[in-house]
Amino acid sequence: MKRILINGSLGQLGSEIAVALRTRYGADQVVLTDIRDDINTELIEQGPFYKVDCRDGKRLSEIVNEHSIDTIYHLAALLSATSERDPLLAWDINMNGLMTALEVARESSCAVFTPSSIGSFGPTTPKDFTPQDTVQRPTSMYGITKVAGELLCDYYHHRYDVDTRGVRYPGIISSMTPPGGGTTDYAVEIYYAAVTSKSYECPLAGNTYLDMMYMPDAVSAAIRIMEADPDALRHRNAFNVTSMSFCPEEQAAYIRNHVPDFQLTYAIDPVKQAIADSWPNSLEDYAAQVEWGWKPTYDLASMTDDMIRTLRERKANGLPLNWQAEKRKAE
Ligand code: SER
Repeated sequence: MKRILINGSLGQLGSEIAVALRTRYGADQVVLTDIRDDINTELIEQGPFYKVDCRDGKRLSEIVNEHSIDTIYHLAALLSATSERDPLLAWDINMNGLMTALEVARESSCAVFTPSSIGSFGPTTPKDFTPQDTVQRPTSMYGITKVAGELLCDYYHHRYDVDTRGVRYPGIISSMTPPGGGTTDYAVEIYYAAVTSKSYECPLAGNTYLDMMYMPDAVSAAIRIMEADPDALRHRNAFNVTSMSFCPEEQAAYIRNHVPDFQLTYAIDPVKQAIADSWPNSLEDYAAQVEWGWKPTYDLASMTDDMIRTLRERKANGLPLNWQAEKRKAE
């Protein structure tokens, strides 16, 4: 029986991986940590939760030992636009957080899942159908921490035999917990805007292509790779995975199938645009398909149907939806 620890468990990715893993293995088998405890109260109450900074190795070691943890999902990180605003903090959280998780895993013989990102590529990477093994010279601090993280995970595997595994996620779209501070956040915000105000002011130019994935596929990638036969893994860390590539104009066109008078306008954020322009338009994920059977289920059409339906249901039930407005107020 697996006993799992999730760092960053209340974030966009963590909150949904936590639900899936608790459903699969039982709530008590999946221990959650996060630096905050003021969101996703249901998750906190449903099973073990600790408010911990992911750089606190001593506390994490105690929790790992107390719960006999054998697998760590390390999901705590600053995203790309936030990292550009505070590069030193990004380095500290993204690198020291990961190093702490790897050290705890080495001491307690745990397997580790860590996400890398399309952010690990840079302007000199081939832009279309980006191969698994290629040039990685990112220009953002987020990307630098992601490449260093990929290498660190490889190192802990070959040097200490820690069972490290991971994928390079594209932008992830979901409706449970909003992302924060990412370049690809627009692709989530646009759906919330569509069902509330029927208009959206986009921070990226309309023809900016980026890889994207719907949350159910992102969750399934994280679980499948950790359950894969280790002998079949040639790459191990940082597998390219993708399910779709689109630009804001294309996404808006699919939204108009549900909200015909949806308006898309632009207020380009120069930091986000520069980051997006340095990332690939689309990835090739053949290695993940062959080595552990990766296969996405959603495309832009089916994801848009599901997001709009889910958000409309939530609106009809009176649940809050004005995330973009709230975020702007907070900024
Ligand atoms: N979604 C992330 C970001 O935009 C990329 O991995 O920062």
